[in-house]
Amino acid sequence: MYTSVADQTTDQLGGPLSVLVRQKRDHVRLHALMERLKGTTGEDQAAVLIDIYRLVFPHAFAEESVLWPVMRRVLPDGGELTLEVEREHQEVNELVRKLEGLEDGSPERAEVLGRLTEVLDDDVRDEEDALFPRLQARVGRRELQVLGVLWELVRRIAPTRAHPVVARRPPGNVVAALPLSVLDRCRDTVDRALLDAPGGAGSALHRVSSALAAASHAVELMPIMRSGEDPSTRFIAGRPPFPWGTAALCAAAVGLAAGAVAVGVRRTARRAG
Ligand SMILES: [Fe+2]
Ligand SMILES: [Fe+2]
Repeated sequence: MYTSVADQTTDQLGGPLSVLVRQKRDHVRLHALMERLKGTTGEDQAAVLIDIYRLVFPHAFAEESVLWPVMRRVLPDGGELTLEVEREHQEVNELVRKLEGLEDGSPERAEVLGRLTEVLDDDVRDEEDALFPRLQARVGRRELQVLGVLWELVRRIAPTRAHPVVARRPPGNVVAALPLSVLDRCRDTVDRALLDAPGGAGSALHRVSSALAAASHAVELMPIMRSGEDPSTRFIAGRPPFPWGTAALCAAAVGLAAGAVAVGVRRTARRAG
């Protein structure tokens, strides 16, 4: 019988460097953020959600690119086990993408948030109670520590936003990592500034954020980003065509945003001069 990661000490899990200790720590942080999310609305909710995305998406990306390939190699039923959590990750990506288009306070938004909480809880339970104890039984303490360092490295440079169209497996998700990570992290910075910005600066920042979102949607739809995918992972069936329309809109949005920022900078410089 296996013992859940939740019921083991740091030493039993392989010491502070072990991937199991790092996973457990992130899962505890996620639980605290989910508690903070309860009952929030408007800007407070937006701020907590940014923190949740920054925790969850790099965490899951590093699982998909570093840990699940090892699980598939060392466990006879690793394929089935990892497919189940890839489906959960996919649903989280789809729910967050949906959430981005829903009005604050709408009943549908509350429903999507509720389901998001549920899937994130299921994902943590599947990993802590089933997947990780099985991995622990197959690999030694030293390997858990090496995996911990690798997982941490990838987590630190991974995308921080929902990308439901990108493959949940290498090589697609690995190819997508660099461009999406840069765009996502710029968007995180702009969105944080947006929460404190006054009216005029706020609308310029909002345009920059939308342009960055459009750019990352265009990047994620490139066919290579879906290579390696198990077709049963996603809820939205079919391969989308290359989004030339989105790409053109995105280029126009980036141009507009750059123009708005340049005008703002020129005005500020004139005032200062
Ligand atoms: Fe995890
Ligand atoms: Fe996960």
